Amino acid sequence: MPKYNPKKLYFLLEFNKDNILIVGISILVLMSSDEGFRELEKLRYEVGEVTREILKLIAKRRQLVSKIADVKKKFNVSVVDRFLESRILSELTSFSESLGLEREFTRRLLSIIISDSVKLQEEKILKTEVIGLREIFYKAIELERSGKKIIRMEVGEPDFPVPDSVVEEVCRALREGKTRYTDFAGIRELREALAKHINDLHGTDLKPSNILITAGGVMAIYIAIQVLSNLGDEVLVPEPAWPLYKQIAEHLGRRYIPVRTKIEDKWILRKEQLIENLTESSRLLILNYPNNPTGKALTLSELKDIALEARERNITVISDEVYSEYFFNGGKAPSIMDVLDDGYVVVGSFSKTWAMTGFRIGYIIAEEKIIEKALKILGYMVTCLPEFIQRGALKALEEKEYVKKNVEEVKKRVEHVLLKLSRCRYVEVVPPDGAFYLFPKIKIKDFDSSSFALKLLEEKNVSIAPGSSFGEYRDHVRISAVKSLGELDVGVETFIQALEENYAER
Ligand SMILES: Cc1ncc(COP(=O)(O)O)c(C=O)c1O
Repeated sequence: MPKYNPKKLYFLLEFNKDNILIVGISILVLMSSDEGFRELEKLRYEVGEVTREILKLIAKRRQLVSKIADVKKKFNVSVVDRFLESRILSELTSFSESLGLEREFTRRLLSIIISDSVKLQEEKILKTEVIGLREIFYKAIELERSGKKIIRMEVGEPDFPVPDSVVEEVCRALREGKTRYTDFAGIRELREALAKHINDLHGTDLKPSNILITAGGVMAIYIAIQVLSNLGDEVLVPEPAWPLYKQIAEHLGRRYIPVRTKIEDKWILRKEQLIENLTESSRLLILNYPNNPTGKALTLSELKDIALEARERNITVISDEVYSEYFFNGGKAPSIMDVLDDGYVVVGSFSKTWAMTGFRIGYIIAEEKIIEKALKILGYMVTCLPEFIQRGALKALEEKEYVKKNVEEVKKRVEHVLLKLSRCRYVEVVPPDGAFYLFPKIKIKDFDSSSFALKLLEEKNVSIAPGSSFGEYRDHVRISAVKSLGELDVGVETFIQALEENYAER
């Protein structure tokens, strides 16, 4: 605390008459700062008290939420009620306005509080899955290391080799010293070639400035979510879905909202389902067609219906089109670029089409102002992608025959697995339109895909992905058809046999 001594002041007045004005001002400043300090202390104390009250109320609220979870569990009521959430959000944001608070501030705050409540209830009600795709993946690797031959139908990785021309180009680039930093957004030649490739396919007018080269589709999705939403915003995702959307969204502090689609509806997403799940906090919709894990592709008109509705409601669509070349119905897979002029972000990758999973190269397509923001984040993460990798990707774009041949091959494999599965009495499956997965429903009461997948792997050396990794689909499994026909034959037959052995008596 600042101190002043009256005796010292008198001394100053006596012997520094010339400075009397300065001294006078100093006294005033000292006195007022003391007063100011006391006032500040008092206000800080009050703010502390109010904050303590807020925390007490939050603790009380969590206790109540916990009781709600018990009741929901007892009466088998689902954790999330989007209609109720939407009502609470709009009621309370309006109430907060009457208190002089900004609507947007309250919306964010409520979003965080509601997310916390949902998490609390889910932890209490839903048992967390012990065995997911990750666990099966690591277990399969462990068994392979111990010398066992495993038929790997759980991984989403093409088994065919990268085109020779790509390997040669990468080696050439390395020898030529293409080992320096590049333009952060990616080398211009690659962005130009990608823009042309996509413009030719979709009649778009993309420029290199609409493209950002990323370290695979994963990074593209991470950056897109970060750029296009804020803490507490909602990211809607039709399920079943690739598990990383949820993991990335939650890691970034966004609220993940699953929109459940069903095998009975042939995995079609209807705009009514989207509308039912929207609240004031909804910002993003992630679409992934052809889909992992169902292989579903929306038709152009189904996609348009969804996209226009999202646009109407100011929801940005992130369209993950990493499987777009794997389309089995003739022509090209419907893309968001065919139905919207702007207000979307497309995620692409070299991983699936050219089997370049280990190269870690993908891209974002978006309006320039979004690319500029995304570029900053990419800069903070990796500066840029290695040039020799980018040179390889540029070469890959020329490999049209390679892509055609592999897509034909994958289609043949998917049809082969489909035929085998459809002969099994326990299985219901929708023929995939694309990608390289099948997502059958197992029509056995209380079928638990996690424990079944683990048993199949440990006892029969065949790995599949449990449906529960893609949402609430524990009675489904995902089979990846990117193995040779011979391997798939043995793998699928073993899978069907295991169903018969385990459940025939039921
Ligand atoms: C739907 C989907 N999107 C994106 C990716 C990302 O792939 P990558 O990061 O290898 O480009 C995957 C990979 O499995 C995927 O299934």
